[in-house]
Amino acid sequence: MQINYNLKPALERRTEQFEPETDVGFGNLRTDHMFLMDYRDGQWCDPRVVPYGPFEVAPGAIALHYGQSVFEGAKAFMHEDGEIYTFRLDKNAERLNRSADILCIPGLSEAMQLEGINALIDVDRLWFPMQEGACLYIRPFIFATEDRLSVSPSEQYTFCVMLSPSGPYYSDGFDKAIRLLISERFHRAVSGGTGASKAAGNYAASLKAGKAAAEYGAAQVLYLDASNKQIEEVGAMNHFHILKDGTVIIPSFTDTILKSITSQSILDLGELLGCEVRQETVMLDKFIADIESGEIIEAGGFGTAAVVSPVGSYIFEDNRVVTVGDGHVGDNTRRLYQVLTDIQKGKIEGPEGWVQ
Ligand code: COI
Repeated sequence: MQINYNLKPALERRTEQFEPETDVGFGNLRTDHMFLMDYRDGQWCDPRVVPYGPFEVAPGAIALHYGQSVFEGAKAFMHEDGEIYTFRLDKNAERLNRSADILCIPGLSEAMQLEGINALIDVDRLWFPMQEGACLYIRPFIFATEDRLSVSPSEQYTFCVMLSPSGPYYSDGFDKAIRLLISERFHRAVSGGTGASKAAGNYAASLKAGKAAAEYGAAQVLYLDASNKQIEEVGAMNHFHILKDGTVIIPSFTDTILKSITSQSILDLGELLGCEVRQETVMLDKFIADIESGEIIEAGGFGTAAVVSPVGSYIFEDNRVVTVGDGHVGDNTRRLYQVLTDIQKGKIEGPEGWVQ
C-alpha cells in the first residue's frame, strides 16, 4: 500500500534540529505529524502521514465506552552518524498484534506498521532532541471507532502513530532507586484476562493502585498474582531481581504478564552480559527471605520507557520495609542499563537486526 503525505506547510514545520534549552521530560512534546490508517469494510486502508492534531471521533465510539484500544511504546535514537535508528521495532509490531488479538481487534501487517513509523520518523526527524539521554518515543495505538452501544467487537478502527521527543522517564535519573508498595489489595490481572496485552484499560485500572503507592512514598506497586503468592509485575514494567552470584531472574511470562521487550532483550543477550539470565515463578515469601538473607542483592523493573528501573526497597501495606542490598543502585543493575542503552545508542554493536 502506498503511503500518502499531507504535510504541514513548510513554514509551519520545524526547520532546524531541535536543541532544547531545558530537559524535555518524558512524553510531553509532540512532533509536527502523525501516521494514520483506518480499518473499514474488513481491511486496513489509507495509510497516510498528516499534521498532528485532534481526531474527529463519534461520541458513541466503542473505544470510549468499552475500552477496545491497545497501544505500544518504542524508541528511536540518534547515532553518531546523525541518523535515527529504531530499537527492535519488529518486536513492538508483533506485540501490538498480540494485544490486538486479545481484544478482538484485527491485526495490522507488521511490515506496514514498520513502514508507517519509519515514514513518520523521516518526516519529523528534525524533532529529535539534541540532549543527553534523548530519544524519539514512538507511540503506536489502535482504537475502535464504530459508533455503536451494543457490546461486541467494533467493525471500524483507527491505527495512529505519534512521536514524542523525550528525555529519560524519571526526571531524577537512573541513579535513584525507587520504592515499591507490595499490595495485596490491588491486582493487575487474572488468568484468562487481558494482562498479557497492552490494553488501554489495564493502565486505567492501575491508576488507583499508583495513588495508593504514592501514599506509602512508593513510586509504583509490585503486583502479585490473585492469590497474593507470586510476584508478577512492577507498575507498567516487568520485575527482575539479581542473586549474589549475578544471576538475573525475571518472572516467567504467563497470560497475566506483559512480555516486555526490554526483558526479552536481557534474556536474548544472556551470556553476552556476563551472567546467567533466566525466568522462573517468583514466590513472594522466598523473595523477601532471600533479600533478608543477602541471597538477593539487587532488584528492579524492565520497561521501554525507563529501560531499567532500580528498586531500593519494598514496603508492605502494614508499613514494614524491606531494603534490597544497601538500598542504592547496584553495579549489576547499572551494567544491564549501560549495555542496553549503549546498544540502543549505537555505542556498542548489539545482535543483528536490533537497531535499524
Ligand atoms: C513501558 O515502559 O513499557 C511502558 O509501557 C510505559 C508507558 C506506559 C509510559
